[in-house]
Amino acid sequence: MAATEKAITRKTIIIVGSAPSFPHGVVDPIKELSELARKRNIGFHTDACLGGFILPWAERLGYDIPPFDFRLPGVTSMSADTHKYGYASKGTSVILYRGPELRHYQYFKSTDWPGGLYFSSTLAGSRPGALSAACWAALVAMGKNGYMEAVKKIMETATKVKEGIRQIQDLYILGDPLWVIAFGSETLNIYQIMDFMAEKKWSLNGLHKPPCVHICVTLRHTQPGIAERFIADLNTAVEYVRKNPDMKGGMAPVYGLASTIPVRRIVGDLLEKYIDLLYKV
Ligand SMILES: Cc1ncc(COP(=O)(O)O)c(C=O)c1O
Repeated sequence: MAATEKAITRKTIIIVGSAPSFPHGVVDPIKELSELARKRNIGFHTDACLGGFILPWAERLGYDIPPFDFRLPGVTSMSADTHKYGYASKGTSVILYRGPELRHYQYFKSTDWPGGLYFSSTLAGSRPGALSAACWAALVAMGKNGYMEAVKKIMETATKVKEGIRQIQDLYILGDPLWVIAFGSETLNIYQIMDFMAEKKWSLNGLHKPPCVHICVTLRHTQPGIAERFIADLNTAVEYVRKNPDMKGGMAPVYGLASTIPVRRIVGDLLEKYIDLLYKV
């Protein structure tokens, strides 16, 4: 909060908070941040891309979810990704505004074009209606009960995963997450653990600053026995890395290298080269 307050200048038009953030699954203090914005008469956006279709249901299920939406008077816009826990395909997403005044800024209008009066509700022109229809179908097919059921399973599985990680001596969980669980190690190379888990077909996301990884619990993980298998494999991974600290290969050296290069532009250039390679036929 103090850092955000300090960063606000005369030119600041908006504060953005996450509910939750992708890396550590932590919900920002949205109430306090949005009040800060309201007092300064600037906008506040809640990025609920990841949590928009989880938090409201988790709240109804009795989990302790802090307010993050338009119930807070300072929140002026929100985003929620339908293609994540809304269970729609990619290609649609949702942005919500507190009122039409703000929404007007996203409209595109051309009044002098010889092709007629052109107007579009977004910057993008032609967009596929089929994706929106499929998204709507996904939302109504899931329905209130479907979402409640899915979130119940996800939260219960996440609790099992958190408990399992907490039992492993060399690991620690960052913050107090709900279902996006980031963990690191003060004694072992967490990226080696990530590489070992990859061999076991667990695709963990590598994070940095500080070095850690996360598992984002999804409906797929809620099938019987999966959380238990994850924890068993994680125990095996930790045991292996403990005994083989010079384990080679995988992503560990890449993360290790990236963290030692102080000039971030060079790291950016490397990523650009990587994308170039993807385009090479
Ligand atoms: C917290 C959060 N915000 C926004 C996004 C949207 O990212 P994209 O640029 O892929 O739509 C994501 C995607 O993972 C996210 O997790």
